[in-house]
Amino acid sequence: MNWRKLRVFLVTALVLCLIPLTRYYQIDQPLIRFLRGSRHVDPLSLHLSGEFVENNLGTQQDADGSVTVRMIAQQYLFLPHCILVPAGVPVHLRITSADAVHSLTFNGTDYAVKVLPGTISEAQLQFPQAGEYKTVCREFCGAGHYAMRSELRAVPREQFPALQPGERGNCAAQ
Ligand code: CUA
Repeated sequence: MNWRKLRVFLVTALVLCLIPLTRYYQIDQPLIRFLRGSRHVDPLSLHLSGEFVENNLGTQQDADGSVTVRMIAQQYLFLPHCILVPAGVPVHLRITSADAVHSLTFNGTDYAVKVLPGTISEAQLQFPQAGEYKTVCREFCGAGHYAMRSELRAVPREQFPALQPGERGNCAAQ
């Protein structure tokens, strides 16, 4: 084997190794799962299984009085479209994307959470005042980016425990 052939062979081998890396989020091997850690999710099966299935989205009361909010960002909306949280209580946000990179912001606050497909973004939020906060995407994510907005409503904290789980994801019940 002369040097030229060897070089062609090595470059070809390198390119073949790089192709799977562009599809890294679709590879499902125990070792790769371990390296990604627990914050990995498969963007292609969010609605089918795991933490972000539909009836798991929205606000959940935690034992210590705080709440956990699970959301999905996708072109071009945030799910659930309207969420309720108690005012003045720590909110643990867990959000992932089904497609592009989005950025979840809440009007009237400094919070900005970058949301990427394949990863769970976590943030600690708190809304001191009861009221409505428009949630707006601030990362250009495609043709419908400028219409990608929904809503978070902070309700007085004593009012929140009385809400049924089904009402917490749906502001129409208010
Ligand atoms: Cu989502 Cu811009």
